[in-house]
Amino acid sequence: MTDASRQSAAEPPAGHSAFKSKVIALDGPAASGKGTLARRLARAYRFAYLDTGVLYRGVAWSMMRDAADPADADAAARYARDFDIDRIDDKLVRTREVGAAASRVAAIPAVRAALLDYQRAYAARPPGGLEGAVLDGRDIGTVVCPDACVKFFVTASPETRAHRRWLELRCDRPDLGEDEVLRDLKERDARDAARADAPMKPAVDAELLDTTHLSIDAVEAAARRIIDDIFRRCV
Ligand code: DC
Repeated sequence: MTDASRQSAAEPPAGHSAFKSKVIALDGPAASGKGTLARRLARAYRFAYLDTGVLYRGVAWSMMRDAADPADADAAARYARDFDIDRIDDKLVRTREVGAAASRVAAIPAVRAALLDYQRAYAARPPGGLEGAVLDGRDIGTVVCPDACVKFFVTASPETRAHRRWLELRCDRPDLGEDEVLRDLKERDARDAARADAPMKPAVDAELLDTTHLSIDAVEAAARRIIDDIFRRCV
């Protein structure tokens, strides 16, 4: 894969580590701005960055490539166990169709279980010997890294998110209407929030960041004030 989802490419760390890294967990719905914020924070603090959505997208994309059915739980679990992040093409997994299929495979508990160790190991021992890691997804603060030093739940109104996603997609899909994108996002939010296993929700100790009316610079500044304060007090 390209470095868009992982700023520091290295071998996935094997197993858990005693090394206690600093973890920034960012959860929230699609197109809330959490990915952009995560990349900026990783750069600012020189931390590694893992976009965990790519793992689910990669499983879904591999199944679609092989004409396998993403609703087949046994097959999806097999694909998740065989998953190799280095074989994923970042551009191919970014489509709307792969996003929808990713949300379906992500509701299968065996898929989540198969991807959990990789994420936890990445957070515990970030690649490149970096001091910390930023992970973004839906369940980072609640399930993957419940001990993260800083947790954010990043959100924005569905209309704002749909507009942002439409702007990203319209070069490749000039026929795509903003209303279709909005419908997709709402369906995906509902599926991600309603699933029984690791549903999308804010951790009880997460800071809420609503980006609806904020520029990305303002969002980053707000997040960094909170992080700096937490790092000063307890790391
Ligand atoms: O963040 P994204 O749009 O790339 O994620 C694609 C799908 O993957 C999303 O609809 C739900 C799933 N996902 C998840 O269930 N848990 C995560 N930590 C990250 C993504």
